[in-house]
Amino acid sequence: MPALQNDILIRALLKKPVPRTPLWIMRQAGRYLPEYRATRKRAGGFLTLCKTPELACEVTLQPVERFDLDAAILFSDILTIPDAMGLGLSFTEGEGPRFSKPVTCMKDVQRIAATQPLEGLDYVYDAVRLVRQELGGRVPLIGFSGSPWTLATYMVEGQTSREFRKIKGMLYAHPELLEHLLEILSQAVVEYLLAQVRAGAQAVMVFDTWGGVLSREAYLNYSLKPMRHVVTELLKTGTQPVVPITLFTKGVGQELADLAATGCHAVGLDWTMEMDQARALVGSRVALQGNLDPAVLYGPDEVIRREVRKVLEKFGTGSGHVFNLGHGIQQYVDPEKVVVLVEAVKEFSPAYH
Ligand code: CP3
Repeated sequence: MPALQNDILIRALLKKPVPRTPLWIMRQAGRYLPEYRATRKRAGGFLTLCKTPELACEVTLQPVERFDLDAAILFSDILTIPDAMGLGLSFTEGEGPRFSKPVTCMKDVQRIAATQPLEGLDYVYDAVRLVRQELGGRVPLIGFSGSPWTLATYMVEGQTSREFRKIKGMLYAHPELLEHLLEILSQAVVEYLLAQVRAGAQAVMVFDTWGGVLSREAYLNYSLKPMRHVVTELLKTGTQPVVPITLFTKGVGQELADLAATGCHAVGLDWTMEMDQARALVGSRVALQGNLDPAVLYGPDEVIRREVRKVLEKFGTGSGHVFNLGHGIQQYVDPEKVVVLVEAVKEFSPAYH
């Protein structure tokens, strides 16, 4: 494998000096790009796109080729694991994901425990290998997984939820059931991320999209604890070179300090907390990733530039900042606005290093 030509993402995640702040965008390959919509149409659907390594590779590279980004993120989805566990995943346009066989009782959990999900995910590792080959060392490739808690929310609710009635009901009425499910998922996430690393992922990120809906105590028990297990197990492998681990809980609040204490290298921030507040909470323990409000990209160019500057200013000087949005880029964003964002980060950020 060729050496990395641009390694500033890896360096910043490890808090090493960089000449400017690296940048990538959550959901950078997606529906806001016309070339993505064309490839998805050719594939016939989102899941086929994920499951065909050549097509997944093609869309992974689209944003890297269009914009001057400092990382590629594997095109896939967090729901690949529950899909491989036999829950019957489908995506319908405008409705999001659905499971035909959600988890409702101990029997369901036992059925899942008996599956070998990692074996059904070769298409993911094949895509990783292909992307690494096609990137030729231009920028690093990020692998990812959902957090055990976030995966469990989809598996129990059967779809995206507003109130989380079923999973929170399980948490308070049958905690032993949820704990068993989370143990199975924690192991699966460890093995899944390790397999991605073995295939060539150079950094990994855990998306805990729904950790923020829990009380502090429940968060620590059901969201953070399984993530800490994942981090501990990954660190045990002592992979060389170091594969930086980023944890992202949307809506995390004061638990950011707990998240940073898991042993991870970096934490992702949504736009509701300011970078200086976050830095005060985590000290110098971890790098920070974020945290421009994705909706800023609906503003005029000068507003985008102003808001980029504010995020850089709030983080302040020194390494350990990875510029990103606070959540995924939305499908109605004009790709030209991303050009404005990328250029602003490149223009303003050297002053902070
Ligand atoms: O960042 C990237 O470019 C990599 C690709 C990526 C996708 N999903 C592609 C996708 C990543 C990292 C994800 C993670 C993911 N998937 C999360 C965690 C991050 C987050 O956004 O909070 C979650 C919760 C999911 C589950 C999921 N997948 C939902 C709820 C949906 C439907 C919502 C929607 O935006 O329509 C998806 C579909 C999905 N995953 C799309 C893409 C590009 C849109 C599908 C399409 O093309 O129709």
